[in-house]
Amino acid sequence: MKIIYQQIISFVTLLTITLVITSVSFIQSTRRLVYSNTWTQLESYADALQENGWNRIGNVLQPNRTFILEMQNLLISQDVHFVIYNSENLPIFPTNAGAISSISGSTWNQLLNGKTIRVSKTPKKTVPTERQHIDQTAIYKPYFYNNKLLCVIAVTSSVQGVQKNIQNIESNLLLAIVISSAVAVVIIYLLSNLQSRRINRMRRATKEISAGNYDVVIPVTNTKDELNGLSHDFNNMSKNLKEANLEIERQEERRRQFMADAAHEMRTPLTTINGLLEGLAYDAIPEEEKGKSIDLMRKETSRLIKLVNENLDYERIRTNQIKLNKTTFDSTEALQNIAFQLEKKAAESGDTIKYLPEHESAKKIPIYADYDRFVEVVINIANNAIQFTKDGNITLKNERGFKETKVTISDTGIGMTEEQTKNIWDRYYKADPSRKNTKYGESGLGLSIVQQLVKLHGGEIEVQSKIDQGTTFTLLFPDGEEDNG
Ligand SMILES: Nc1ncnc2c1ncn2[C@@H]1O[C@H](COP(=O)(O)OP(=O)(O)OP(=O)(O)O)[C@@H](O)[C@H]1O
Ligand SMILES: [Mg+2]
Repeated sequence: MKIIYQQIISFVTLLTITLVITSVSFIQSTRRLVYSNTWTQLESYADALQENGWNRIGNVLQPNRTFILEMQNLLISQDVHFVIYNSENLPIFPTNAGAISSISGSTWNQLLNGKTIRVSKTPKKTVPTERQHIDQTAIYKPYFYNNKLLCVIAVTSSVQGVQKNIQNIESNLLLAIVISSAVAVVIIYLLSNLQSRRINRMRRATKEISAGNYDVVIPVTNTKDELNGLSHDFNNMSKNLKEANLEIERQEERRRQFMADAAHEMRTPLTTINGLLEGLAYDAIPEEEKGKSIDLMRKETSRLIKLVNENLDYERIRTNQIKLNKTTFDSTEALQNIAFQLEKKAAESGDTIKYLPEHESAKKIPIYADYDRFVEVVINIANNAIQFTKDGNITLKNERGFKETKVTISDTGIGMTEEQTKNIWDRYYKADPSRKNTKYGESGLGLSIVQQLVKLHGGEIEVQSKIDQGTTFTLLFPDGEEDNG
């Protein structure tokens, strides 16, 4: 069943039950009140009759007929009638009470015990009235004189008017129930319809999302109801799904690119090795060349191993799988060591590598980093510098910045164009592919790893380069919390 109908049914049921319970209890209490008032009044008439309706003659009480008749005339005009029974249960007044029967045995016994009896519907023939078909209300009250029953006075009155009033109230209430139910149904219908429309809008949006359209947005209003909250959450969900989907696409693209690049990078050494192996197998390589061929194969195999290791390293850094062991150490000493370590290699390219200023070796400059990773980063950049500089100079420098340490590695080598400097961080990128078989750098992974490592330190890396003039890499390593404090 549709929600709209469920809501209408539940609201109408609730409304009807409430109205019926209220009306019934209202009518009941009104009825009780009306009867109780009537009885009190009838009882006061009976008391008046008893008080003034007897004359004392010696020690005996005799009915005061004059007063009783006056009273009768007075009360008839109000549609009130009375009968006086003597102690023998015989009606003695009115005088024509012959048609009236005595009070029934059980009622009489209760009266003998001094109990006043109230009835809301008088049994026929016990009261003198021509209109027996009309509901009557009556009281029977016994009066005693010297501990002996003197008489019982029954006073009765028609309840026609009372009932008419109650009927009026009943029909008004019924009308109120019908009108308010109708109004309530209309209001509930409108409200439910509004909610149904909002729910349907969400259903359509859900279908859109499952069909892959993550751009769908449900309008959110200012009302703070649950459906609005749901719409808000829904929009957040679709936004997150969109981002997740884009990330999946990006990952997929990266994976695809990686597979293509890795395959491409591996093909060259593998082809070389394969060619040499075939040459050896078919004895196509002269004896004196064999040693050289094996050397070449070893070089190509190391290159493959390096490629695989760097790839693994890159992925581990990128996915945060490595843990940095950061400490504060003297960057001057570290840079001096690196320069010393690479001196021989630089000389092979006719280069010099120096830490500057050369003679202020005592000046310590602290840096907060993982020592091994820091050395790895600088060596990587310095190796590039040696690789792309012929008969030039490579300089390493450091200085303190604001809550950071700055390290620069400059060369006077071949430099790069602006376009090339933008791409050097990409994996497998080589500014000039024809240079890829130079002595040192081959895979194009070095700077991607360097960049990831610097990022992992919370630092920054920048490059400035000019064709044929040289290149400068600038590294910024932020201080640790304790250094700042
Ligand atoms: N100091 C430099 N001068 C000129 N070009 C540079 C310099 N450093 C890097 N490059 C350019 O950036 C490219 C990417 O460098 P990267 O270190 O990532 O790879 P690679 O040195 O070719 O290989 P490897 O993975 O062995 O380091 C280089 O191929 C080169 O073209
Ligand atoms: Mg390199």
